[in-house]
Amino acid sequence: MSTTHRPRGVEQAMLQGWFQIGTSAECSEGQVITRRVFDSEIVLWRTADGTVTVTDAHCGHLGAHLGIGGRIKNDTLVCPYHGWAWDRTGLCARVPYAPNEVPDARIRAWPSVERSGGIFVWTGRADSVEECDIPDVHGGEATPSLIEMKASHGVGDSRAVVYRDRAIDPRVPGEHSTDFAHFKYIHLATDAAVQTNYSIAGNIFRADYAVDYKIGPGSPKPHRVRFTNFGPGVVTVENWGVVDHVLLASVTPTGGGRVDVYYSVWVTEELSARVKIDYDPIFTALIAQFEADLIVWENQTWVADPPYLASESRCLRDYRIWAEHFSATRPGADRTTI
Ligand code: FES
Ligand SMILES: [Fe+2]
Repeated sequence: MSTTHRPRGVEQAMLQGWFQIGTSAECSEGQVITRRVFDSEIVLWRTADGTVTVTDAHCGHLGAHLGIGGRIKNDTLVCPYHGWAWDRTGLCARVPYAPNEVPDARIRAWPSVERSGGIFVWTGRADSVEECDIPDVHGGEATPSLIEMKASHGVGDSRAVVYRDRAIDPRVPGEHSTDFAHFKYIHLATDAAVQTNYSIAGNIFRADYAVDYKIGPGSPKPHRVRFTNFGPGVVTVENWGVVDHVLLASVTPTGGGRVDVYYSVWVTEELSARVKIDYDPIFTALIAQFEADLIVWENQTWVADPPYLASESRCLRDYRIWAEHFSATRPGADRTTI
């Protein structure tokens, strides 16, 4: 069975990347979860050894939906219709009523990783899978840690929220990392932020800001923010100063101009200890900040050629040049059928 993968519209602009399709918490052992990504229906399933596998949702025999009645047996996903079993690589492992025959049949297995409580897939060409730079909150030998928090502050409590099927142009949220001016109007900073630096290295775009917040009596308190985009769909935002925290936000195109949005936030160990009796209000306030951005994005049109002020840096323009790297139509990425 050949599997076509042809997203339409703006999704073409960001196909070659890693995108979040679920949370670790929702995919427990033995579960099969259905998701939509770039107009493709996929299933996530976790086997007894804890590994998550992501494959096409439709069976390679006659196309039954593996997410509706499919079950896991011996590290394979068994189709509810005729019992054909698919292994983690997408190959047919057995046909129960023809034990001496293994057909030359496969479904697409999507490269996947689990990081920081999220499950991510590579949506680009199968023959050019790029290394996944998305950090893990607990870090590790081969995995970058959630940066400064892990190294010097310790990871405290966290919260996660998922917003499904939102009508957001998928190009909009990533560009938020370049936006110094909105801190005053959306996040109630005392003034626009000052962009202190931005840099591009391979699949990573990074921007740093200094901003002041006035909370309660006294003079405004300095705060610094670091956005790190890991491709077009995943960003971490480190916040140090007023309320120390790190968040990971993912925007995943599902097709037709709609997206799923994943948001996770961690406070430091030190903050957890200090306010452990009552820190729900802190998380409520942090999530409200993200939702303030979300409301704008849901009602925003992506502007192809915005007016640039002479006093602005080239940051947004450079971001857009960087983002072209992930396009399905970039040189060397002209094949979208896998
Ligand atoms: S359709 Fe899945 S086994 Fe026949
Ligand atoms: Fe924002």
